[in-house]
Amino acid sequence: MRYVVGPAAELPPGSSTVVYPDRVTSGIGVFNVDGEFYALKNTCPHMGGPLCKGTVRGTSAAEVGDDGELAMRWERDGEIVSCPWHHWEFEIKTGRTIFTSRQRVRGYPVSVVPPDVLERLREGVETIPVSVEDATLVIEI
Ligand code: FES
Repeated sequence: MRYVVGPAAELPPGSSTVVYPDRVTSGIGVFNVDGEFYALKNTCPHMGGPLCKGTVRGTSAAEVGDDGELAMRWERDGEIVSCPWHHWEFEIKTGRTIFTSRQRVRGYPVSVVPPDVLERLREGVETIPVSVEDATLVIEI
């Protein structure tokens, strides 16, 4: 099943939205990470929180500096979503937690399709999506 999210131009880099297709009542979050689109189920695998309503940010990581001292650095800005309930952090691109865990949130393929291709999709014709301006975001559910 395909679900039309809306114009790709309305979701600029660094932004996200949550849509509610009939088959996924908890919703699906759609994210633009540096011009690439990703979709995650809006249900946190920890305790079911509305994951995709969380803050999108980076994360801190430890590294040993040139002086041999341990230091923290900020990395992957805009690639991590933090669940609003207990702040578990997930990679938007993979749906995996950033800490060692088997927990993972379900992802969905996102296509960016031009207007003429969108019409053919609505008619049930299979096509190969391409990235263009004035295109529409479509997720496969
Ligand atoms: S429900 Fe998301 S971190 Fe607990």
